[in-house]
This record gives sequence, C-alpha cells and structure tokens, in this order.
Amino acid sequence: MTRTVYVNGTYLPETEATISIFDRGFLMADAVYEVTSVLDGKLIDFDGHAMRLKRSLDALDMAEPCSTKELLDICRKLVELNGIDEGLIYLQVTRGSDGDRDFVFPAEGTPPSIVLFTQNKPGLADSPAAQKGARIISIDDIRWGRRDIKTVQLLYPSMGKMMAKKAGCDDAWMVEDGYVTEGTSNNAYFVKGNTIVTRPLSSDILHGITRKAVLRMAQEAQLKVEERLFTIQEAQAADEAFTTSASAFVMPVVEIDGVRLGDGTPGPIARRLREIYLEESRKAAI
Ligand code: PDD
Repeated sequence: MTRTVYVNGTYLPETEATISIFDRGFLMADAVYEVTSVLDGKLIDFDGHAMRLKRSLDALDMAEPCSTKELLDICRKLVELNGIDEGLIYLQVTRGSDGDRDFVFPAEGTPPSIVLFTQNKPGLADSPAAQKGARIISIDDIRWGRRDIKTVQLLYPSMGKMMAKKAGCDDAWMVEDGYVTEGTSNNAYFVKGNTIVTRPLSSDILHGITRKAVLRMAQEAQLKVEERLFTIQEAQAADEAFTTSASAFVMPVVEIDGVRLGDGTPGPIARRLREIYLEESRKAAI
C-alpha cells in the first residue's frame, strides 16, 4: 500500500515525495528526528517527543519548522490518512538547503525541511520478540559526544545492529570506558532484587522518553531505581535486564555476550513494567 507522507507542508503519496539532493540532512546528517509510537490509533507521549525535538533543534541552533500544535495535527492526520491502529510515526527536521554543498551553515532564514511518515506495525504491543526476550552483544561506543541530541547520525548504531545480527543476536549495548552507555536504539537497564539500575542522564546517552515514563512507573510500583554507571559484568550477574524505547516499549533482555540471565526467559519485573507501561500509555494517549 502506498503511504501518504508529509513533506514541507504537503501531504502526498510516498512515491511522489521529494527532497533536494543538496539538503543538509542528506549531505551532512545535519538533521534531528523523533519516533513516536501509535496505539489504538493514538499518539503515545506526544508532548515528551515534541519537547525533546525542540531541545535537539535548540542545541543545534536549528529553526523550528512549525508549532507543537501544528505538529500534533500533522501526526494525527497521517495516522488517519494511513489508517494506523498500531505503529510508529517518524519525524525528521533538517537544516534545509542553500542549493549547493557547503560545510558552512546555509544563510539565516533558510527554511528547515520537515518530513513525517507512518510505519504500520500491527501487533506492536503484543510482540512475539518481547515474549522471547532479546539476546544482546556488547560493542565499543565510538559515537560522537552529544548523544543527548537525537541526530540522524545512525551509521554506527546500524553497524552495531548488524554486528549483533552476524553474531546471531538481536541487538547491541554500547560500552565506553568500561561502562554501558545505552543500546543501539534504546536505553539499557538491569534488575537485581528489587532494584533497577540504569546509567544517569548526561550527554553520553539519549534522554529516552520511554525511560522517563518507565522509571516513574517503577517507583510508583515500589521498585528502587539507581541511576549510576554499570558494567557488562554486573548486568550479566543480574536477575534480569531490559531496554526501553518508543519502538519496542519495555523489551526484556535474556542474554548478554553469551551469558544467560536467570533461566533465560523474560524476567518478572521487565514483564510487569512492560504491562504497566502499555496500560498507562494507552490511557494517556492523545
Ligand atoms: N530510538 N537511545 C538511543 C540511542 C535511541 O536511538 C533511542 C530511541 C532511545 C530510546 O528513546 P525513546 O524512549 O525516547 O524512544 C535511547 C528510536 C526508537 C529509533 O531510533 O528508532
């Protein structure tokens, strides 16, 4: 089915959507993005994603392409036009194009480019992958130092996923100076007893929107949350582990670098947090 997508103010079939070859998103990865999930045809944590988008744009001195209200209207219209019940909305804003290639930013007033499209994913909430749990490998984190900005520089995370695939696994956690930073497209956690451990927020990791919600829900469920550095060895010795992201919610982790966690099936706390997250998010969806 041909999707209807949104490009710079226009809704049109994906086959007719175009962006300049001089667009800095294409030439320089000079662009930021957001991924928002859709459940029951409604947007999950739209405000959180809109706020992080603004933060990313501000950090790169990039113009906002439209207001938050306009963004919400665009997302809702795309969900409706494409008949999305469960799936994702991808949004990308680039610094636009001056009509040539130049390292120097385009002249002030050059309009940003904005692109949104939907991804239809029936069964996203009830995913078989979450029932099985993910097998993880660890890789060096060689990304740039501003991972708190959600840029489209995704080559290394893509390579990390390919390294995991080659090793017969599902995903990779990245390690810097001996400590886990995050997953290739998610935040990373382990559970020991009643305590959830995850790396504290800094420019080393993306400030996950799902992370924020899940940590709040964990505390409400009387679990202890410790935000501190941790090693792969510590996670391997844990009772369970999981990741969080808008695209996979709470994903149990059952193996790290060949070491099985617990009995090798998704742990009770990860499963419970997934349930709570889905239930609460559905209620708050707009
Ligand atoms: N990725 N860390 C990284 C490096 C990420 O790319 C993501 C999200 C997260 C989780 O953030 P959130 O909970 O706000 O989705 C953490 C998205 C889903 C993606 O690139 O597809």
